[in-house]
Amino acid sequence: MRLDYPHFVLDLASIWRNNSPNSDAGQRDNMSTMKKLLIVYQSFTGGTAQMAAAAAAGAAGVEDVATQLVTAAAAGPEMLLASDGFLFACPENLAAMAGLMKDFFDRSYYPVLEQLNGRPYATLICAGSDGSNAARQIERIATGWRLKEVAPPLIVCTHAQTPEQILSPKQIGEAHLAQCRELGATIAAGLSLGLY
Ligand SMILES: Cc1cc2nc3c(=O)[nH]c(=O)nc-3n(C[C@H](O)[C@H](O)[C@H](O)COP(=O)(O)O)c2cc1C
Repeated sequence: MRLDYPHFVLDLASIWRNNSPNSDAGQRDNMSTMKKLLIVYQSFTGGTAQMAAAAAAGAAGVEDVATQLVTAAAAGPEMLLASDGFLFACPENLAAMAGLMKDFFDRSYYPVLEQLNGRPYATLICAGSDGSNAARQIERIATGWRLKEVAPPLIVCTHAQTPEQILSPKQIGEAHLAQCRELGATIAAGLSLGLY
């Protein structure tokens, strides 16, 4: 599966390969014992997608953790239940989390309630100028699920203000992508070490 954005191409298979041992039998055994990190994201103009991909790349450097990067539209309760930790990534739109991200939470909230207690999570927000409301909304949902926040929300502002800027493809700077990689590596390392 490939996700193509301006200046940005991610081969998801490479993430799984990076985390997988060589032999088929070893792969089967190892996959069953590996901790699983689920990254759910939504993006309209590519900014959040780059942040989520960077977090996935950071997590891919940690042994014993399998990272799954999926869009909010494709994600649901089964993926949540099958995962040991989560990164939630979306833009702030109209002072709220992006609609498809909210749809993911709406579809998933009650089917997994009381079944994710204590699992770790963190949030990535891509915003024009704020992002705090989207982060707060996700935090409230995560509190309802009794997830454990492992880092403060990572909010990246693209400084898009005019309609033209807002609708243009985004390019997240290397310094912010490095923060996303570090967050992905941090939660994956915590999973690998059994910290949570
Ligand atoms: C309909 C719409 C509403 C927006 N509302 C906000 C907002 O309330 N606060 C904010 O900081 N940015 C807002 N933005 C800007 C986006 O958050 C910003 O462009 C972000 O980089 C988009 O992320 P993406 O590239 O992953 O789609 C809005 C963008 C759109 C299209």
